[in-house]
Amino acid sequence: MTPTTSGRERADSPVVVVANRLPVDQVTDPDGTTQWQRSPGGLVTALEPFVAGRGGAWVGWAGSAGAAPEPFESGGVSLVPVALSEEEVDRYYEGMSNASLWPLYHDVVEKPEYHRTWWDTYVQVNRRFADRAAEVAAEGAIVWVHDYQLQLVPALLRQHRPDLTIGFFLHIPFPPFELFTQLPWRSAIVEGLLGADLVGFQRPTAAANFVQLARRLHDLPTRGSTIEYEGRTVTARAFPISIDAQAFDELAGSPEVVKRAEEIRAELGNPDKIVLGVDRLDYTKGINLRLQVFEELLQDGAIEAPQTVLVQVATPSRERVEHYVHMRETIEQQVGHINGVFGSIGGPAVHYFNQSVPREQLAALYRAADVMLVTPYRDGMNLVAKEYVAARGDLGGALVLSEFAGAAAELRQAFLVNPHDITGVKTQLLRALRIEPAEGAKRIRAMRRQVFRNDLEHWATSFFDALRAQA
Ligand code: ADP
Ligand code: F6P
Repeated sequence: MTPTTSGRERADSPVVVVANRLPVDQVTDPDGTTQWQRSPGGLVTALEPFVAGRGGAWVGWAGSAGAAPEPFESGGVSLVPVALSEEEVDRYYEGMSNASLWPLYHDVVEKPEYHRTWWDTYVQVNRRFADRAAEVAAEGAIVWVHDYQLQLVPALLRQHRPDLTIGFFLHIPFPPFELFTQLPWRSAIVEGLLGADLVGFQRPTAAANFVQLARRLHDLPTRGSTIEYEGRTVTARAFPISIDAQAFDELAGSPEVVKRAEEIRAELGNPDKIVLGVDRLDYTKGINLRLQVFEELLQDGAIEAPQTVLVQVATPSRERVEHYVHMRETIEQQVGHINGVFGSIGGPAVHYFNQSVPREQLAALYRAADVMLVTPYRDGMNLVAKEYVAARGDLGGALVLSEFAGAAAELRQAFLVNPHDITGVKTQLLRALRIEPAEGAKRIRAMRRQVFRNDLEHWATSFFDALRAQA
């Protein structure tokens, strides 16, 4: 990607997206040269095609500490980098965002830590994002703020720019009152979000949790999905996020990808069954549980390696946060143990890749996999599950999906599992492995209908229409 300096640094963008990350990260190679690569995670997957078609500006961090690159144009969008110092990356991003809010909002799967210095930096960085958005937004513009890293931005932005229509979307779960109120800065977060006209969540329960907080914590009048706050009406509703299903379907069905899928099968030694996991390497995703289930099934003799193999592709993520360091060690030990016991020369039971792979390769993996294992302990949505379904235009494959992923509300024909119930997951995985092709095709077809009907365009236009209606 070749950045070109943007002519749009002035306040002339009618639509502004504000997210912690830009859609691309600036990475420095060992020889000191820099290049841009796609940023990790579901937020970028969802938003990138949306903004690409509409222009406007995207305010975000370029992914490394230090001075921010100059604003530049990419795919018709003006990218406006925000600088973070080493200390801010440490306290705002790794600390407050990913060691306090992330575990708290994911059912305290790991114990959140709370530090006042992290909070102070979170406030400082949120103010910087709000200032930058205020600079680039045209008079009366729509500003769409994203995710848990920037929950104070709506209120900070409104203070500067009351002319704007402000939307906020939370990509991750929003916890119930009893958990959220652990947070020492709970009132400030709620007030930050109330700066928006429309607050969007993945699930109706999350929206209801927020409305309840406004009522119980702030004594605000609420009615259904609306909250009266400082003379304005704030709406809190669910908008389940999705993918560009058609684009993914076309990619996965292209001759190159279909051929690559066959090659992958051959490279794996033509096993009878391929089980696949694709995730950011995050403790919420239940990768450890997946490995345990696979190991127990091998031990039980219910499956055999290398006739059945597990391929796990895990993008490195938040590598300096302690919870992530431990989890990576655990997973790598589990993989080593399983291969030590059940593998053979040239025939490992688990193929583990701690890498991000290109979209074409991902689509080929989905196409090659007989069973997709998606087992988070808690997940806002989980786009991987939807990508798998969209990739299976051949109506092959089967999806094992955690009940605790937002996607489970829509993909009812998956083999649904409770990831805390190991025996239950084993049973469902075996059922998925042994499914009759006709029954499998029926399930996949029904899920594809759902994903194509409720695609990314549907998500974005529903949110935007609801936001405009608030203006
Ligand atoms: P999260 O936002 O928590 O990372 P999602 O499942 O919603 O989880 O989104 C993850 C996105 O990142 C998907 O678009 C998926 O294709 C992509 N992704 C996950 N793992 C990899 C990987 N190893 N290589 C490339 N892309 C990946
Ligand atoms: O909502 C999921 C999310 O946390 C996004 O906010 C984020 O951009 C993505 O996952 C990847 O995480 P990170 O930006 O910390 O690498």
